Amino acid sequence: MKHIAIIMDGNGRWAKERGLPRAEGHRAGAESVREVMDACKELGVKYLTLYAFSSENWNRPEAEIEALMTLLDTFLDEKAEELDKQNVRLKAIGQIERLPQSTRDRLERIQAHTAKNDSMTLVLALSYGAREEITHAAKSIAQAAIDGKISPEDITNDLFAQHLYTADIPDPDLLIRTSGEMRISNFLLWQISYSEIVIVKKMWPDFRQGDLFAAVEEFNKRHRRFGAL
Ligand code: IPE
Ligand code: IPE
Ligand code: MG
Repeated sequence: MKHIAIIMDGNGRWAKERGLPRAEGHRAGAESVREVMDACKELGVKYLTLYAFSSENWNRPEAEIEALMTLLDTFLDEKAEELDKQNVRLKAIGQIERLPQSTRDRLERIQAHTAKNDSMTLVLALSYGAREEITHAAKSIAQAAIDGKISPEDITNDLFAQHLYTADIPDPDLLIRTSGEMRISNFLLWQISYSEIVIVKKMWPDFRQGDLFAAVEEFNKRHRRFGAL
């Protein structure tokens, strides 16, 4: 198991069940992030991708978006040093240019600072949408063709994958979604072609290390056939 990707869903419902504002659910979800990072380290998982903010999440009320961005800044401030100490590389994927400048500055600084770390890669999907990622790749391939660097026959699956945000990252083996929802919500459409999917009923803020280990155990029982026998 090299790569686990997680759709961290259910923060709002978690808060609502407790009569709290949605932002409190997002705040509580940060603790679950710490839990899964530790669990992945323990398991020797090399890549952990967390879906933190989708391109469609920009359609939420401004106050919620602001709360999420502030939480993200806080998370980055608190985690920057620890990530580096633990030899973790941080990588952000998505339309990063849409994020507030304060967040972009932090991301840029931490990514540069941790670029050579190699115990694990933490991939944060921020302002991320898989369709945008794919059209973005198509544009850059078209440009390469116009510039005479490639011809249409050169466009293979591998070349296409090299133009995605995840160019240097292997495809997820396991995709987990919390809150019981059975959908992909525009996450890693290309990369999850053969990922095993585990849906967990718990809301994200309730997700703990044991839940991750249980999902991995479930994964280990699956027979991955990749279309063959
Ligand atoms: C996931 O929780 C976090 C983000 C999408 C940013 P939600 O905010 O989607 O919570 P629910 O799904 O409404 O409960
Ligand atoms: C997916 O959750 C995005 C993230 C977890 C960041 P959403 O809550 O936005 O997805 P839908 O709206 O239920 O499909
Ligand atoms: Mg949701």
